[in-house]
Amino acid sequence: MWSGFPLFPEQASTMAGRVDALYIALLCVTAFFSVLIACLVVGFAIRYRRRSPDEIGTPIHGNLTLEVVWTLVPLAIVFVVFLWGAEIFFSMARVPPQAMEVYVVGKRWMWKAQHMSGQREINELHVPVGIPVKLTLTSEDVIHSFYVPAFRIKKDAVPGRYATLWFQATRPGRYHLFCAEYCGTKHSGMIGWVEVMEPAAFQSWLTGGGSGSLAAEGQKIFQSLGCVSCHRADAQGRGPRLEGLFGRPVILASGEQVVADADYIRESIVTPAAKVVSGYQPVMPTYQGLVSEEGLMQLIAYIQSLEEPAARGVPIAAAPAGAAAPAGARQP
Ligand code: CUA
Repeated sequence: MWSGFPLFPEQASTMAGRVDALYIALLCVTAFFSVLIACLVVGFAIRYRRRSPDEIGTPIHGNLTLEVVWTLVPLAIVFVVFLWGAEIFFSMARVPPQAMEVYVVGKRWMWKAQHMSGQREINELHVPVGIPVKLTLTSEDVIHSFYVPAFRIKKDAVPGRYATLWFQATRPGRYHLFCAEYCGTKHSGMIGWVEVMEPAAFQSWLTGGGSGSLAAEGQKIFQSLGCVSCHRADAQGRGPRLEGLFGRPVILASGEQVVADADYIRESIVTPAAKVVSGYQPVMPTYQGLVSEEGLMQLIAYIQSLEEPAARGVPIAAAPAGAAAPAGARQP
């Protein structure tokens, strides 16, 4: 009856073994105390049973040693579980810097993935084995949840914001991808596959596409929407220049400093008035509804690709005009 019923999904990522170890440890602690308490209940019931109708129990007025022990022992166990869990949580939350990036959009009822090279796929995700992969995740409509049991990863795809998660597959193969958040009639059909390939096979799969890279697609949108008329490379435009912006701190009109990550750029496109760069007027119209979620990701990839060789690490300053980097900061 139980043949073919997997008690555990297979382990196919670097995180899987660690998550399972914690899970099994929790299971063992729970089982140990369940059995212990059940045995004590039965044992005490027999040992301290009423032997005659007029028997009166000994009054007990507390036992300090006992109370200290049954407070400290669970506290120690809970601390171990907390530290262990936190350690795994932090490694899941910290994306390795050399990770390969893929953009994923959830939509009723499918998963759409875009690779940086321009390859696009639906309900499939091809990744190389042994290389960390970072997913930037959002939704076009309602909340979905990206869940790959074999990798022990799950993250909600929430409309209007980006979530990131990462994994490193350890074995080539095909692994189930599920939507783990009820999202409508065909929620149960919102499934796909993660195809883990040998790096060489993955490279040849990547080059099999033919469409332009994600950044090149983003550039097309950038030009067709006329973004370039304000965001000029010579810093003479009405909007801040975007070269070298990605991942760097930006000073806002409010004096606040934020990092120009994917979320910031997305927000600046759909609700430009939310965060205005210091020294600029809030003149940019909203592009909400004019660019699809996939288009936004392409635009972000384009802005990410706009490298500036000079002045790395210097905040985008308030000077809108002629904000040339100091000569000393320029690299050969
Ligand atoms: Cu998408 Cu459930």
